[in-house]
Amino acid sequence: MAKLVVVLGGDGVGPEVTEAATHILRQAEYPLEIQTPPCGEEVVDEFGTAFPDEARELCDKADAILFGSTGEASILIMAYLRYVLKTYANVRPMKYYPGSYSPLANPSNIDFVIVRENLEGMYPGREGDISDLAQALPDYRDLVGKKFADFGEGKFAIRIITKEGTDRIARFACELARKRKKKGSMGKVTCVTKQNMLRESCGLFKARVEQVLKDYPELEYEHFHVDDAARRLVRFPQKMDVIVASNMFGDILSDLGAELVGGLGIAPSGCYSDEKAYFESVHGSAPDIAGKGIVNPTATILSAAMMLEYLGLEREASALENAVASVYRERNILTRDQGGTATTMQFAQAVLKKNT
Ligand code: IPM
Ligand code: MN
Repeated sequence: MAKLVVVLGGDGVGPEVTEAATHILRQAEYPLEIQTPPCGEEVVDEFGTAFPDEARELCDKADAILFGSTGEASILIMAYLRYVLKTYANVRPMKYYPGSYSPLANPSNIDFVIVRENLEGMYPGREGDISDLAQALPDYRDLVGKKFADFGEGKFAIRIITKEGTDRIARFACELARKRKKKGSMGKVTCVTKQNMLRESCGLFKARVEQVLKDYPELEYEHFHVDDAARRLVRFPQKMDVIVASNMFGDILSDLGAELVGGLGIAPSGCYSDEKAYFESVHGSAPDIAGKGIVNPTATILSAAMMLEYLGLEREASALENAVASVYRERNILTRDQGGTATTMQFAQAVLKKNT
């Protein structure tokens, strides 16, 4: 039976990038049933919500979901895709395709993956008034002996790191590093925390990653504090293989990583639970260029390639990735962010032509 793929545009440039990717998926005639139910900010007036029941019911049944991007309205969709589907592993490959517009002098051979824990850490915001925290934890003292009641009016945010959540993301990262090593990568896991200041929560994250690593003697391991990691990513990006990080650190490093390989228009992602997965670009809804037909759809097309691989269409996935790579190599038909003049759909057509 054909696998069911549900495509959700979302907000801003979302519908444009998913239209481009869907065009390729349809024209390539993969064994997929593709459904594109109405959703996103453009349907709020009609349905009273960005995520109508029809879309949600289709997503419940889907084998995989391709998502455009979220602005304000589609946060609902993002919340479903992450927290309801429990897609705990947010996998963000950062690979340099020669011809893309990297700001680095030598971006050759950058090929690493950020594995971002997707359900815990600082997101979704668990915040409130410091006065409530002072009541709940009257005796708590921080590193320098200060109580919550000693602060004036203000807000707090809570960061949750669990043993179960960390073990699960650590194992996912190790399995990915093992798989990549078999294909010729260096076989290294880099754990990123801020354990020098967040001793308990980052301490647990680091300790659990190191515990899980013991089951993978063939993998190299290193740990960097997040500030150091940011610097190393710029200076030595080729030395990275699989980076595992908690939610917010992974979020921030993803945008940095995307720029290294040519910009937010390029970086794809896949978010996996043990049962299901959805795929989306790393970029947001880019309202400033929405509706103009000029957004770079590469990130969503590469996300679609990750989806093909997930659905067992490995050969088709690498053919699509190779097609994208060859359009970049030729530099004839690229969008504006890459120094070209092509429209979103012209770029998609160029990829389709190479996709053999
Ligand atoms: C991302 C985005 C989202 C996030 C936003 C839009 C909520 O920045 O996927 O990286 O922070 O997770
Ligand atoms: Mn982000």
